[in-house]
Amino acid sequence: MRAFPLSWIPPLAGATDMQLHNGNAASDRATHPYASRYGPWALVTGASSGIGLASAEWLAARGLNVVLVARRADILSELAVSLQQRFGVQTLVVAADLRDTEDVQRVLQESDTLDIGLFVAAAGFGTSGKFLDSAIKPELDMLAVNCSAVLQMTHAVAARLRARKRGGIVLFGSVVGFSGVPGTAHYAATKAWVQSFGEGLHHELKPFGVDVIVSAPGPTASGFASTAGMVMGNALTPDVVANGTLRALGSRMTVRPGLLSKLLGYGLSTAPRWAQVRILGSVMRGMVPSLK
Ligand SMILES: NC(=O)c1ccc[n+]([C@@H]2O[C@H](COP(=O)([O-])OP(=O)(O)OC[C@H]3O[C@@H](n4cnc5c(N)ncnc54)[C@H](OP(=O)(O)O)[C@@H]3O)[C@@H](O)[C@H]2O)c1
Repeated sequence: MRAFPLSWIPPLAGATDMQLHNGNAASDRATHPYASRYGPWALVTGASSGIGLASAEWLAARGLNVVLVARRADILSELAVSLQQRFGVQTLVVAADLRDTEDVQRVLQESDTLDIGLFVAAAGFGTSGKFLDSAIKPELDMLAVNCSAVLQMTHAVAARLRARKRGGIVLFGSVVGFSGVPGTAHYAATKAWVQSFGEGLHHELKPFGVDVIVSAPGPTASGFASTAGMVMGNALTPDVVANGTLRALGSRMTVRPGLLSKLLGYGLSTAPRWAQVRILGSVMRGMVPSLK
């Protein structure tokens, strides 16, 4: 497995002038209620794109320092500089391939000395098409990123949060995580795993002051669709998903961020489970060219 560089980037000199100019100094942000509750550091996986990137920006805007994790080090480094300049926060870039348990362990080790109060597990990807037409390697990779890495990182971070008696964990399920979905059967199963795992942890960690939420977005315009081989019509923006999710932490066990997620989610939930499977199978036939 390729070795990735680590870089810690302190706030840039001169950033203060810009923050004061914007009337929103870093010290004000550090005392933002969200930073007081879930700071001073957040660990965000999937920070190079889509929902993870939008989450990192949302958190930095509220004064949290951010550990940025994904494979694409160049994008993470650019984002780190941008977050420092705009929000005066500190950043740590850890480029890692979350398919690899040793890389996952390295992320945990390299962020070990930071006072992490929030874990946002946004790294993930999907596959689509008929399961038996798929090669097994991408499916195993998806299981590793969507489930094993989430398990390994949550186990370590949750222990730290429980010890400090304060913090939050944000997991990303999906609107397809509530039933079987022909045409993306294994991806939907990974999201069902996340949904179940998060619901259980929500109650286990509540007595220790640790909030856990599962976000179940509908289609979102990000890098997801092209990786998954899907074509999306209506879609949410990553900003709407990040905002709806992070705002709901502490008050909900599951959130359906944005109107489209709510319409799809609550619409489907009124149907019996066998009907949900058939409806979603039909939706997937419209979204996956190889199924047509
Ligand atoms: N978009 C949707 O329609 C939608 C709907 C419901 C749920 N979700 C879920 O939301 C989460 C975020 O997805 P998104 O829409 O933001 O997709 P995205 O734009 O494709 O972003 C995925 C992120 O995961 C990272 N990632 C993928 N494989 C990785 C690996 N092996 N190691 C480390 N990082 C990896 C990518 O970074 P690198 O490529 O740089 O490694 C990227 O930052 C996923 O769990 C997805 O299943 C998405």
